[in-house]
Amino acid sequence: MTKNQTIDDQKRAAAEAALEYVKPGMRLGLGTGSTAEHFVRVLAPRVKAGLKLTTVATSERTAALARELGITVADLDTVRHLDLTVDGADEVGPGLALIKGGGGALLREKIVAAASDRMVVIADEAKVVDTLGRFPLPVEVVPFAHVVTMERIAEAAARCGCGQNLMRLRGGEAHPFKTDSGNYIADCSADAIPDPERLARMLEAIPGVVDHGLFLSMAIAALIGTPGGVRVIEPPRH
Ligand code: A5P
Repeated sequence: MTKNQTIDDQKRAAAEAALEYVKPGMRLGLGTGSTAEHFVRVLAPRVKAGLKLTTVATSERTAALARELGITVADLDTVRHLDLTVDGADEVGPGLALIKGGGGALLREKIVAAASDRMVVIADEAKVVDTLGRFPLPVEVVPFAHVVTMERIAEAAARCGCGQNLMRLRGGEAHPFKTDSGNYIADCSADAIPDPERLARMLEAIPGVVDHGLFLSMAIAALIGTPGGVRVIEPPRH
């Protein structure tokens, strides 16, 4: 790492690089998390200088920051379709498979990314991994019978050959963390997820699971802040 460069500098550099993808008139999805916040902060002066955009936010937190900085935020049901979403990630694996949801916004993040023609990920170098799973996989679950749902999630992780399947309710039973949609987050410490596609399918089949933090085949590029500059990762072309 070059002198004085911090992880936060890498996040900011990745966020600045993402500005290249933003064109006038775009309908733009704004991600959640510290890297996405950098993006909102570097975007704001452009908007102030006259860049016309329609934006949609992936969380109440991002919406509040954007509005505070003078960026108008619209509702996805009004805008319907987005050109681009710029968002952070907790892990960036082979083929741009992602783990997201460390900030608890995974459901809205996935809805917004799915409504976008393109998703660009911004992250620091520490997020790039050979195998997903070191970061506990966030799974959004409905509060009703969440203990039973968490047991089903652990079983799915075990059947998918994950290194381990330790479940933790975010915030704990006494004060569970609540998402913007009023659900809970179950964090699954899998250690390694050898087959993310299979685990995603199995999680989607569990009643009580609203969504999970595996974002597969969604991102078209990852901009990774490194000590040597921003590295662009693109999925292999078929
Ligand atoms: C929010 O729910 C997450 O998906 C974030 O995008 C992810 O946790 C990355 O956050 P940082 O940019 O803060 O590392």
